Amino acid sequence: MDIEPEQPIIRGLRDAAELQPLSKLDAEIFGDLAYPYFALRQLYDVHQRDLLVLERKDRLIGYSLAVAGREEDVGWYLGLGVDNLHRGHGYARRLAEESLRRLELQGVTKVRLTVEPDNIITIRLLGSLGFSCIRIEHDYFASGASRMLMERPVDRNTGRTSGIGQT
Ligand SMILES: CC(C)(COP(=O)(O)OP(=O)(O)OC[C@H]1O[C@@H](n2cnc3c(N)ncnc32)[C@H](O)[C@@H]1OP(=O)(O)O)[C@@H](O)C(=O)NCCC(=O)NCCS
Repeated sequence: MDIEPEQPIIRGLRDAAELQPLSKLDAEIFGDLAYPYFALRQLYDVHQRDLLVLERKDRLIGYSLAVAGREEDVGWYLGLGVDNLHRGHGYARRLAEESLRRLELQGVTKVRLTVEPDNIITIRLLGSLGFSCIRIEHDYFASGASRMLMERPVDRNTGRTSGIGQT
């Protein structure tokens, strides 16, 4: 008899005890660009409600972090990743849509982020979610690494982005 594969769920990070598995996942996904543990801990202290994880069979397999910024209507997407074994199933899209929905509920009308200019997979995903390139920022991480600054407007009348669903 076929057993239905367990569908992953999206939920908030429950408590600080989950930071260790999250940190491990972050390192697997982002390598050198993963958050040091102390930075993750501080992000959790400030932004716990915005830290979403994707869980399957009691394991964290992805996460998303998008927060309101210093200008109250501008949000920043800080992190989105799915582990290697679980890519290509629409999980990042689900995570991103949930993070963006939550930001909209907080009154955010514009979301910004930066991405490596050659990260074509992510740029495609972001384009389909309504983000477009604003400019390339050189030495963004003070390391000689350029980043593409992208932004997603939200229609103030409908509360929805004008670009969602486009490819
Ligand atoms: C980018 C990443 C989060 C995508 O995760 P994922 O769960 O595989 O993505 P999804 O299955 O939800 O795919 C969403 C979209 O991404 C794009 N995409 C995904 N895999 C792709 C591939 N192999 N080639 C081209 N585009 C691809 C497509 O636009 C896709 O939409 P579609 O299926 O409707 O065509 C994942 O590859 C990852 O964690 N990469 C490393 C970390 C990273 O770069 N994060 C973003 C940094 S800001």
